[in-house]
Amino acid sequence: MKTEIIAHRGSKSNRPENTLAAFEEAKRVGSDGIELDVHLSKDQKVVVIHDDKLNRTTNGKGQIKNFTLEELKQLDAGSWFSPKYKGEEIPTLIEVLQLLADYKGILNIEFKTDRNIYPGIEARVFQLVQNYRRDLPVVYSSFNHESLIRLKKINPEADTALLLWERLADPWRYTEQVGATAQHLWEASAFSETTEQLHAHNIKVRAWTVNKPKNMHLAFNMGIDALITDYPEVALDLRRSFEN
Ligand code: G3P
Ligand code: MG
Repeated sequence: MKTEIIAHRGSKSNRPENTLAAFEEAKRVGSDGIELDVHLSKDQKVVVIHDDKLNRTTNGKGQIKNFTLEELKQLDAGSWFSPKYKGEEIPTLIEVLQLLADYKGILNIEFKTDRNIYPGIEARVFQLVQNYRRDLPVVYSSFNHESLIRLKKINPEADTALLLWERLADPWRYTEQVGATAQHLWEASAFSETTEQLHAHNIKVRAWTVNKPKNMHLAFNMGIDALITDYPEVALDLRRSFEN
């Protein structure tokens, strides 16, 4: 079994995270999957950005939920990373889905509902995926497992993955109970017998954020299903050399 390489927030190491430039690059290098994070704007539009606040990755300040999409679109989400990316915007989920319309890999959409619950975000995201990515692979994840349960109520077929830092006792029980097909585990937790226990129950393990080549090798050796990394190109190269 081949460990899949999922680009974390796009190709985060060499492009401004969660921008169209980052997703374009992740696709260009041949990533098996692309991970992104979603929030809701004040006017209930699904936007792609990691933090609850604008401060770190844009030239704006304050909570995303307090700004309309039109206001968010005025901001520069590229210059903080490099002047080369001045003018990159906070993308909407629609824009990303359009950019990746012919991308056959996994799109991993993470609901950032751990601090703000963003009522209705699951239904909105699901509707957009129905409209733009109906027959292509999508995995939904969240640290807020209630978001995943809500999504399963909307669409029992949705493929969900529990985001976790820590290992659980009898990890398969809870995973099966909430209808998830995978755990997305902090790498130190994934490099343990938890992976074997989950595999014994046909539950996938995807480890994050695997950036060190040593840990990428470990993931390949352990048969971890996927690694989520800021360095998709490096991981893909390493996997090629690991296979030969
Ligand atoms: O989905 C893996 C990883 O993205 C979870 O953490 O904080 O980067 O969204 P974070
Ligand atoms: Mg994430």
